[in-house]
Amino acid sequence: MKQSKDFKRTLITTALPYANGPVHIGHLAGVYVPADIYARYLRMQGRDVVMVGGSDEHGVPITLKAKNEGVTPQDVVDKFHGIIKEAFEDFGITFDVYSRTTTDIHKKTASDFFKTLYDKGEFVEKVTEQYYDEEAKQFLADRYITGTCPSCKSEGAYGDQCESCGTSLNATDLINPKSVISGSKPVIKETKHWYLPLDKHEPFLKKWILEDHKEWKSNVYGQCKSWIDLGLQPRAVSRDLDWGVPVPVDGAEGKVLYVWFDAPIGYISATKELTPDWEKYWKSDDSRMIHFIGKDNIVFHCIVFPSMLKAEGSYILPENVPANEFLNLEGDKISTSRNWAVWLHEYLVDFKDKQDVLRYVLAANAPETKDNDFTWKDFQTRNNSELVAILGNFVNRAVVLTHKYYDGKVPAAGTYTDYDKEALAEIPQIVERVEAALEGFKFREAIREMMNLARLGNKYLADSEPWKIQKTDAERVQTIMSICLQITANLSVLIEPFLPFTAKKMQGMINLSGLVWSDCGKLDLLKEGHEINEPELLFDKIEDETIQIQLDKLEQAKKANEAAAAIATPAKENVSFDDFSKMDIRVGTILEAEKVKKTKKLLKLTVDTGIDQRTVVSGIAEFFKPEDIIGQQVSILVNLAPRIIKGIESQGMILMAEGACGELTFVSPAKSVKPGSEIG
Ligand code: MF3
Ligand code: ZN
Repeated sequence: MKQSKDFKRTLITTALPYANGPVHIGHLAGVYVPADIYARYLRMQGRDVVMVGGSDEHGVPITLKAKNEGVTPQDVVDKFHGIIKEAFEDFGITFDVYSRTTTDIHKKTASDFFKTLYDKGEFVEKVTEQYYDEEAKQFLADRYITGTCPSCKSEGAYGDQCESCGTSLNATDLINPKSVISGSKPVIKETKHWYLPLDKHEPFLKKWILEDHKEWKSNVYGQCKSWIDLGLQPRAVSRDLDWGVPVPVDGAEGKVLYVWFDAPIGYISATKELTPDWEKYWKSDDSRMIHFIGKDNIVFHCIVFPSMLKAEGSYILPENVPANEFLNLEGDKISTSRNWAVWLHEYLVDFKDKQDVLRYVLAANAPETKDNDFTWKDFQTRNNSELVAILGNFVNRAVVLTHKYYDGKVPAAGTYTDYDKEALAEIPQIVERVEAALEGFKFREAIREMMNLARLGNKYLADSEPWKIQKTDAERVQTIMSICLQITANLSVLIEPFLPFTAKKMQGMINLSGLVWSDCGKLDLLKEGHEINEPELLFDKIEDETIQIQLDKLEQAKKANEAAAAIATPAKENVSFDDFSKMDIRVGTILEAEKVKKTKKLLKLTVDTGIDQRTVVSGIAEFFKPEDIIGQQVSILVNLAPRIIKGIESQGMILMAEGACGELTFVSPAKSVKPGSEIG
């Protein structure tokens, strides 16, 4: 595989997030943290590198959101562009330019690009049939049509997909189609569009990807191969829509460039915005372009955009596309509409100044080869037992002891023992392994190796125990501390691409600045007598309660979703009357109630069932205080087989009804009746 040094410059592009919502940890883990690590690494090597990004501000979802909120699409993108840009800045994602696709520069660049291909005869024109709203006088994008799903018959299916049963649809499949705009019944009308004939580019793509880029990650290569094997079809690059870059040819009124045509051109526009010298990044063979994206973008970056660039003729093609798979959250797919996400701007409110903790966890756990799961427990563990216990602990002890023993001045190295030499010899090896991993876009491995340097330091210090011999062998202690400080200095450089905020703090602490990548591996970064600054805590422990707050937030999102879904919970399978009459349900009265220790949800109840007084453990503690429910009449299933719950035998079950937000209420007789009365 070619290395970064085989090229004169590197152009790093990062997928443009849609400006119809804020960004979450999935975006960060999949695209921006890896890209930023890579860009920082190259910059620290003094390479010519630019990292471009921006907001993707066109497309139907944005117009729909605007419509729902009664604002203009421009209002929507202005709002989210601001939020997204700020979140990236806050997390130290160092774009050289973060632009957007509603700028004039972009509109012109995209429009000209289209015109060039058009003039070269690189498109085919096709007339197709499409739904049209006669009241609103406009063609309807798939998402602008709803109707009954032909498959599950539920209402409100969209023209491209039924969200109830997940079937993907053609708008013309819908039963009783309705326009979202006017509510009227749409009619079928002919419309003309321009298509990029991917079939024509297939032989080229086959060779360029399948033969010349065998080194691409297997998930990327595999996806490309299956697309190509299936046979490529022409793809429409225009849409009937009034939000986007107008199609710049006669007879194209009311038509705009398809969002996936204009968005990747956004990388070019952003580079133009950055520098008048943009062409050297895009049009010279000694430049290389790397696309950082998520897996849902692979086909556009490996097949469609390269075909566009190739057809245009003067641009370079991507050298590599290290796409990541998806990051899940607590076992579930991240979803904006279900609010199942950790939003970056919210994270920083709850975890102020802890950007690096999230960067660390996301890189260490990046979904590089398969989908991966983010859990708050893992976040806590990685913080507490890696960042705090290893990195933070080592650096803190090195700095504190230097102040204690030497008044903050770096001691002389003295003579190294074999053990010292062995430890020191590992440093350049670790650096090499970090480099190799980064060159191969293996960020998990890179961050693990980086951490190994902290592990090395921690172990060296723990094994050497300078505090035990300070009184008896001061000379040896000087050597030990000097080595610890050199490791600290090395760490402060090596961690910089990954943990930039921490690196800065560390360099401040040891009073060094202007370090570059080639300083990694040097053993004399701190000269004898160099004065270091006061220690600062790099990381602190994250407690269970803090994590619980995050879990509770998610639990609430889940409940709200379940409540929304519950409205339409389908009926269970039929049971026979005999089966039903096996259940002995009675009215009971709660006589005593107390919380079950060490649980959040459980109450231990004593219930008068008319037959006896019995113990029932019930999961209602979040909704009722024990003292409030004494005397409450309830429905109780008395012949449920006893179960041991938290060491208590529960004899029966109290029936509860679940409200819209997941809250529970008792199912009780409308007027007081004798305990033991049968229900049925
Ligand atoms: N907005 C798209 C998404 O979030 C990504 C666009 S990447 C670009 O999936 F190449 F088009 F810019
Ligand atoms: Zn359906």
